[in-house]
Amino acid sequence: MTDKEEMEVSEAQIAVHWQEEGYYHPSPEFIAQANITDKSIYDRFSLDNFPECFHEYADLLDWDEPWHTTLDTSDAPCWKWFVGGKLNVSYNCIDRHLAKNRNKTAIHFVPDSEQERIQHITYQELHTRVNEVAAMFRDFCGLKSGDRVTMHLPMTAELPITMLALARLGVIHSVVFGGFSPSACADRILDSQSRLLITMDGYYRGGKWIDHKKNADEAYVISKNEGHTPEKVMVWQRHPGKYSSSSQPLAGRDYVINDVLKDFVRAKVDPVSMPAEAPLFLMYTSGTTGKPKGCQHSTGGYLSYVAGTSKYIQDIHSEDVYWCMADIGWITGHSYIVYGPLSLCASTVVYEGIPNYPDAGRCWRIAEELNVNIFHTAPTIIRALRKIGPDEPAKYNYHFKHMTTVGEPIEPEVWKWYYKVIGKGKAVIVDTWWQTETGGFLCTTLPGIGDMKPGSAGPGAPGIHPIILDENGKEIKAGDGKAGNICIRNPWPGAFQTIWGDRNRYVETYYGQYCKDRNSKDWRDWPYLAGDAAMLAADGDFRILGRFDDVINVSGHRLGTKEIESAALTVHEVAEAAVVPVAHEVKGKEPDLYISLKPGFTPSEELAKKISDAICREIGKIARPRKVWLVPDMPKTRSGKIMRRVLSAISNRGDVGNVMTLANPEIVDEIRHMVQD
Ligand code: WTA
Repeated sequence: MTDKEEMEVSEAQIAVHWQEEGYYHPSPEFIAQANITDKSIYDRFSLDNFPECFHEYADLLDWDEPWHTTLDTSDAPCWKWFVGGKLNVSYNCIDRHLAKNRNKTAIHFVPDSEQERIQHITYQELHTRVNEVAAMFRDFCGLKSGDRVTMHLPMTAELPITMLALARLGVIHSVVFGGFSPSACADRILDSQSRLLITMDGYYRGGKWIDHKKNADEAYVISKNEGHTPEKVMVWQRHPGKYSSSSQPLAGRDYVINDVLKDFVRAKVDPVSMPAEAPLFLMYTSGTTGKPKGCQHSTGGYLSYVAGTSKYIQDIHSEDVYWCMADIGWITGHSYIVYGPLSLCASTVVYEGIPNYPDAGRCWRIAEELNVNIFHTAPTIIRALRKIGPDEPAKYNYHFKHMTTVGEPIEPEVWKWYYKVIGKGKAVIVDTWWQTETGGFLCTTLPGIGDMKPGSAGPGAPGIHPIILDENGKEIKAGDGKAGNICIRNPWPGAFQTIWGDRNRYVETYYGQYCKDRNSKDWRDWPYLAGDAAMLAADGDFRILGRFDDVINVSGHRLGTKEIESAALTVHEVAEAAVVPVAHEVKGKEPDLYISLKPGFTPSEELAKKISDAICREIGKIARPRKVWLVPDMPKTRSGKIMRRVLSAISNRGDVGNVMTLANPEIVDEIRHMVQD
C-alpha cells in the first residue's frame, strides 16, 4: 500500500464515524427578498442544458460583441467559453453603473486605525481614479494588452483600483498576497515575466506600521539575479503626498505613482474590448510538488461566473453593503471582494486591518457603521472571533441577512456559533467549497432554497456537477459512507484556462488521473480532479474532508509542504526536512517541521530558529512552523521514503500504527519522546 492509499483509508474511516447534523432553514424574511427562490434553477442548469445554461450568467454582463460559440472544446482540456464575444471587465464593474448609480459607494475603504477616516469611494470617483491610473500605465509605462504585471500590495483601495486600471487595458495582473516574502514575490515576477512590480510604501496592521517598500527592493534584486528584470517599480503612497518608507525610491527604477499621476489628472482611457477568452489575471497557488502554479483566469467566462454566483449564492443586490474579510491577494478577494460585487454594482468593503484590533468589537463596529448586511469570512477567523470575544456581537446593532464561510471545512460547533452569535440566528449561511483554480464556488447551497447543514458544503452550485470517484475511477454513490476524490464532471465558465506556461502540468495535475481518452474533444471524458477528499451524504450534500495531496491549509491558506521543505533546505546545516500538519484551535492546521541535520552539526535552539526564519524569508510568516524538531533521523520506508504519516501521528498525538516495516522502527519512539514528553 502506498502512503496515499493509507491516508485515504483513514479519511474514509473518519467519515464513517462522522454524524450527520440536523438542518437549518432560511428565514421567511430572507426568502422574501432572495435573488433566487425558484428550485427550477437546478433544472435550467442540468447537464441536459449544458453548456447553454451559462448564458444566464453571461447575460448579466454588457458585451461589446456577442459570442458565437458557448463552449469550444477543440483544445481539450483547455476549455474556451463564449468564443467570439468581446467585453471589458473594468467597463462592466464601473462604467455601466454610472448612468443610474454614479453616487453610490463602490468601495468603503476601512483603515486599520479607527482614528483615520473611512473612505467612501463612489462609482463616479472610482471611474475617475481608475481612468487616471490606466492612462498612467498606458502612456507612462507603455503597457498594452497581454503584458503581465505583478502587484505586491496591502489591503487598501489602491489595490482594486490598480487591478481595474490594468483590466481596462487588457493587461494581465498577478496579485501577490502582501504578507508574502520578497522571495515568493520574485518567483511570481519571474514566472509571469512581469514588466512592472507595483508596491506601496507601507501600510498599517494591528496598529503597527509595516514598511513594505523594502520587500520590493529585495524582490527586484532576486528576480534580476534570476534573469528577469522588471522595467519599473511603481510605488503607491499609503498617505497620498507623503512618502513614508525608509527605502527611498531609486532614481530611474522606482516611481511614486501619486507623483506620476499629477500628469494624468482627469485623463480618460477607453476600455479595451477584450476577447472573452483573453487572460484577465494570474493567481499563484501551491500544489503538491515544485513551484507555485500560475492559475490563468479568463475575461468573459470568469466575470460571468463570478457575477452569476455573486447574484445567486452571495445574494447580492445593488443596494447591499457587502463585506468579505479575505485578502484581495487570494482568489476569494479577487472573485468576491472585487469582481463579483462590483460587477453587480454593490458596495464592497476593503478592510486594511485585522479582526481583533484594537479590540474584539472592531468587526461589529465596522458592520454597524457601514450597515453591512452580507458578511463573508473563513472558519479560522470565526474560531478566532469566538475565542477573543464571544459576547461582542450582541453589543452591536448590525443586521446580517447572509453570511459565507470558505477556505476549509468548518466544524459543526463553530458553524452553530457563527449562526447563533454572529448571525444572531437570522442570517443564512452558505458554506462555499471551491479553489483558486475554479474561479468561483463549486459546492454550496442556494441561500433562498436549500436547507443548511453545519459542516456540509451542500450540493453542486447550479451548473456544477460533482462526482466522487475512488482510486479506480468508480463512482462512490450518495450515502455509501465512504470518502473519495471529489471531481467535477463538466467544465464551467469560471474555471482557470491553464497553468501559466505549463500546460502539461495543468493536464496532468487536474485531468491525468481520470481522463478516459487523451485525444478526446468531448468534455465528458475529462472530469476535473479537485484534489480534495469528500463524501456524499444520502441527501445529496457534499462534505469536504480536506486535501489529499501534500498541501497544508493554514488559516485557510494553501501552503505546499514541498515549498516549506525546500525553504528549510536552503539552510546549510539541513540534510532532510519533512512537514506535517498539526491541528490548531484557531488556524485549523499548522505546519510542524521535522529536520535531520548533515553529519557534523549539532542541534541547537539557534539552529531551529535559523530554519524557522528561513521559511518566513522564503515564503512568508504564515508558513512559520509551530515547532522545528531537530531529530536524529527520519522514519523511513525500506525504499528510503520519509514516512510523513508517522510524523503526523506523533505531532497530533495519534496512533502511529504498525511501524515494524520501516527501515528504522526504533527511531519512532525516540521522536515520540522528544515531541510528546
Ligand atoms: C479548501 C480558496 C472545505 C479545500 C477558495 C480546497 C474548503 C482548498 C472550503 C482551496 C470549504 C475551500 N469547505 N474546504 N467551504 N473552501 N476549501 O485555492 O481543501 O486557497 O481545495 O481557494 O481550500 O484553497 P484555495
